[in-house]
Amino acid sequence: MVKPFATPSGVRRIVEAAVAAPSVHNTQPWLFYHLKDSMTVYADLRRQLRVADPLGRCLAMSCGAALFNMRLAIRMTGYEARVLPLPAPRGAPDLLAVVRTVPGEPPPPNEQRLHAVIPRRRTNRFPFDGRSLPQETVVALVAAAREEGATLVMLNGRATRKILDMVATADQALSRDEAYRREL
Ligand SMILES: Cc1cc2nc3c(=O)[nH]c(=O)nc-3n(C[C@H](O)[C@H](O)[C@H](O)COP(=O)(O)O)c2cc1C
Repeated sequence: MVKPFATPSGVRRIVEAAVAAPSVHNTQPWLFYHLKDSMTVYADLRRQLRVADPLGRCLAMSCGAALFNMRLAIRMTGYEARVLPLPAPRGAPDLLAVVRTVPGEPPPPNEQRLHAVIPRRRTNRFPFDGRSLPQETVVALVAAAREEGATLVMLNGRATRKILDMVATADQALSRDEAYRREL
């Protein structure tokens, strides 16, 4: 007999952490299932933004953010969270990840601190001020991305201006698109 990794209220706490993640236009495009020794993350394709996000890239990033919080919350129960990404890309493309739970060590202080700030995270839409990021923050962000198998590229001033120009052009094109405006 496999002992469940969490009680029903424990599972609820894990899902509450997961759904506190950011998502594209707050669509919350995720579904979760749990078994005794695992949880699964599905894309809720009914919530995909067909015009703004036709490839589901932003949808996948949103579900990735939920998965990150879920992993932290599972770790708080003293279990390891082993992620199998895209276990059935052909059979079930909406099945984004299976998270197997195995008994483990209590989470280290940095994971506990990350977990504690999940309810405090908010998207900040205020304008940026002129200060640059402290170098140690940049180094920490690059390392955090690498730990998750991603690459964070810091742009110089010229590259930043180029990207911002592209964003502005794309934004103007989209805002003329009636289907986009309706979806928004
Ligand atoms: C993949 C992704 C793309 C997003 N794109 C935008 C965006 O273009 N503009 C914006 O203001 N917010 C964007 N957001 C932030 C969401 O609008 C925000 O997470 C959502 O409304 C929930 O609010 P919260 O982050 O304060 O919980 C994005 C979030 C994600 C995960």
